[in-house]
Amino acid sequence: MKKKLVKRVSSGKTGRALNTGSQGNGGSVGSESRIDPAVEKWFAEAKTEFSPSRSSTIPMLQSAQTALGYLPRDAIRAIARHLGSAPAVVEGVASFYAQFRFEKPGRHRITVCGGTACYVRGGGKLMDDLQADLKIAPGKTTADGAVTLESVACFGACALAPIVVLDGKVNGRVNSAALRALVGAAGKPVRTARRKKAGA
Ligand code: FES
Repeated sequence: MKKKLVKRVSSGKTGRALNTGSQGNGGSVGSESRIDPAVEKWFAEAKTEFSPSRSSTIPMLQSAQTALGYLPRDAIRAIARHLGSAPAVVEGVASFYAQFRFEKPGRHRITVCGGTACYVRGGGKLMDDLQADLKIAPGKTTADGAVTLESVACFGACALAPIVVLDGKVNGRVNSAALRALVGAAGKPVRTARRKKAGA
């Protein structure tokens, strides 16, 4: 019998009214909307930390993503209002950079290096197995919001190929059995590597 890969993550949507506007550092422009409490908490500090100028756009986006894990619409709108820009402008800037995410990440993140060194040393198979088990493509999150699967071009540590990063922890020379142990140790039993003997 197949085990459930991960537990369901609760969404916890309880938005409430908040003025996200500002003029200067934290001043109100009088526009209220319902925003996510997490965004509210982040913005309360961010609006005092960042000047309301265009030069603050990238730093504020980075701050929001660091605090929230991604860039929800509420954060884009709060930043835009703080900077006196249109949300579409701020979103346009963010979408130019690969570092920014617009979808809520899973509770766990698995990143497989897709660089040449890692790929030829088994990274390609690791990614194939993970995609099959999780039933998602790189860049996507499982339907239950538990796991986000990612690929990067190169971690810059090719001597350790293939590399898999699990929840921020870098693991080098990973084979299928090691990946299974890693993911399982994190409380997420996977069937990865059950199909083929290679690396198991
Ligand atoms: S190719 Fe994977 S770390 Fe460089």
